[in-house]
Amino acid sequence: MKEKKLTYREIHIHAMRGAKRILFLLITAYLFAGCSRGHDHTTIKDLDEAMIDMKIYQENLGDMIKSGRLNDAVWLLEGADSVLQVMSNTFREHRKLSEPFSYFYHEKLKEPLNGIRKAIRNSDTGAALQHYRLLVRRCNNCHTDHDIDKQVRF
Ligand code: HEC
Repeated sequence: MKEKKLTYREIHIHAMRGAKRILFLLITAYLFAGCSRGHDHTTIKDLDEAMIDMKIYQENLGDMIKSGRLNDAVWLLEGADSVLQVMSNTFREHRKLSEPFSYFYHEKLKEPLNGIRKAIRNSDTGAALQHYRLLVRRCNNCHTDHDIDKQVRF
């Protein structure tokens, strides 16, 4: 009984920490979206910055799923998805991409993102982890296909 209470408190503390970090990320994403709008010719150099934002979400999302904290994972999933949507709208063409980013978003990333979303809704940590792994594989496939020397880890 006592042990359980402590665990809940711990979860709460972690959730508060997570919330602060997420707020920071949302502000970053918002600023990124704001900066990217309006100057089409200078956005090209920003894909790597967007990818770094993505990586922060993706790593935290993975940590949450791995530790079974699906309630905290929701925020990170939606944060990751909104950054990806910004990327889809921003990078309609890029010298390092064979297709617009939105093509890869719709064809490759949406499926695992929706899979994670559904698994969270069903409180199914196993399924969430499985779709998360697929997401990471899709990140890496795109990097490999475009000769990007960047290995995304699970
Ligand atoms: C559409 C193909 C594509 C997909 C999908 C993709 N990436 Fe990338 N990624 C790239 C490209 C291209 C670069 C190099 C960008 C540059 O150098 O301007 C890159 C670079 C990166 C970098 C290095 C950024 C830096 O400057 O250090 C990270 C980290 C990264 N991606 C993470 C991810 C993660 C996490 C995912 C999956 C959620 C993902 N990427 C999915 C194409 C993709």
